[in-house]
Amino acid sequence: LESTVSMEVNGRPVVLQVDNRSSLLDVLREQLRLTGTKKGCDQGQCGACTILVDGRRINACLTLAVMHEGASVTTIEGLGTVAQPHPLQTAFVKHDGYQCGYCTPGQICSAVGMLDEIGRGMPSFASDDPAATPQTSAHEIRERMSGNICRCGAYPNIVAAIVETSG
Ligand code: FES
Repeated sequence: LESTVSMEVNGRPVVLQVDNRSSLLDVLREQLRLTGTKKGCDQGQCGACTILVDGRRINACLTLAVMHEGASVTTIEGLGTVAQPHPLQTAFVKHDGYQCGYCTPGQICSAVGMLDEIGRGMPSFASDDPAATPQTSAHEIRERMSGNICRCGAYPNIVAAIVETSG
């Protein structure tokens, strides 16, 4: 079965004919050719596919495109350009927040969503005290970014880039 889905992707309206079984990840990559969003595990375990939907970070491999009628989707391609990078992109370059780079789009999209969560006062999921004040310490960032795996182990540099941006 197929459906027509209208959404905004990186600020541009798109109308797509999608297989009802297609993940949002596959539609972004294969129909819209937005290949900046990566497929690692395709089962919600690595975070390589992290994008922003209506400002919230999600794993694009775990959701069906057909569920996002009217949504506003932002991928790494929509965050910045070579001429005008997003501050997190600049910080990742400055701190070498990657090695192979495969996880980087997901790391950056996730960090954008995470900093917004902190800005809205959302407590850490892993916090024992739900009333605890979130702090953008390196420890807090590691905890909040734990859904994004880097097999190269560039975590210290990734965290440094996010700490700088969060300040
Ligand atoms: Fe979606 Fe790994 S590809 S979490």
